[in-house]
Amino acid sequence: MNSMEFNLLQYLEEKQGLVNRYLKMILQQFDQDRELIMAMNHSLMAGGKRLRPILSIAAAQACGKDFFIALPACCAIEMIHTFSLIHDDLPAMDNDDLRRGLPTCHKKFSEATAILAGDALQTHAFNIISQPEHIFKIYPDSQTRLKLISLISQAAGIQGMAEGQILDMQSFQPEQNDSLIHLKKIHAFKTGKIITVSVEAGAVSVGADPEMIRKLVVYADKVGLAFQVVDDILNIEGDPKIMGKATGSDALNDKMTFPAIIGLDKSKKYAENLIDDAIQAISQFDEKADPLRAIADYTINRDH
Ligand code: IPE
Ligand code: IPE
Ligand code: MG
Ligand code: MG
Repeated sequence: MNSMEFNLLQYLEEKQGLVNRYLKMILQQFDQDRELIMAMNHSLMAGGKRLRPILSIAAAQACGKDFFIALPACCAIEMIHTFSLIHDDLPAMDNDDLRRGLPTCHKKFSEATAILAGDALQTHAFNIISQPEHIFKIYPDSQTRLKLISLISQAAGIQGMAEGQILDMQSFQPEQNDSLIHLKKIHAFKTGKIITVSVEAGAVSVGADPEMIRKLVVYADKVGLAFQVVDDILNIEGDPKIMGKATGSDALNDKMTFPAIIGLDKSKKYAENLIDDAIQAISQFDEKADPLRAIADYTINRDH
């Protein structure tokens, strides 16, 4: 393990702890015995890498600012991500039994409760950004919060994750020539847009300059695509015990994935090239962007 890796692990652990504390506080505002809150807690607090909020934090730092003001957006994005996982696991979608090392929300509770826990995580995410004063000491001004709501809702909905999930479900096989273009679109929508908005929201929260944000978005688009390519690879090569979710399901469900279309080796090379491009996109940033650089490497070297 080199020192860069060591520092990154420490960084990830520290920031995971911070994000977890705030997420816990958010749900502690409610009666813990309610089925809805228990189901939300089950999935939200089950662990998870917290990659998206950590990207927001690292983007805020790369812009040379105090990242604490980005925490409302961090928590909102992680809640929306968790909602997307709960729904993704439902029988009507991927029909998975294990998530984040625990039974999926619908297995632990019921399908109806899982649907509603997902809904409530999504709606409460926007409540957190609109009324951050109940939880956070510092938060962006109201105009910035409106901008965050606009960006995050776009990334999660019609022009983002929801559309990507539909494309993923349709799983039709286009002509060979078009399949890679189509697959990049699926990945960009179902996974990439939320990762991109995580980086963007960190920078927007701290009032970063538009030129910096533009470069960060290029970085994030590349990291987001690489992240899903690696998710496809781990679905074949990963250890389900380490990943906390099933592997082998993509082939079983005849899913369109990078390994299915270009093979494992080319998929790995492709992810590496994307990460080189991501790091290139932020080459003009100083050492305060080192966490972003290290996270980009981690995206393709992770085992879960
Ligand atoms: C899994 O996301 C779903 C995808 C979009 C590929 P993560 O791998 O970030 O899952 P957690 O949050 O760590 O559980
Ligand atoms: C999940 O994609 C994407 C979203 C939840 C938006 P996958 O279905 O490929 O991810 P895993 O493997 O279940 O985490
Ligand atoms: Mg899926
Ligand atoms: Mg899935």
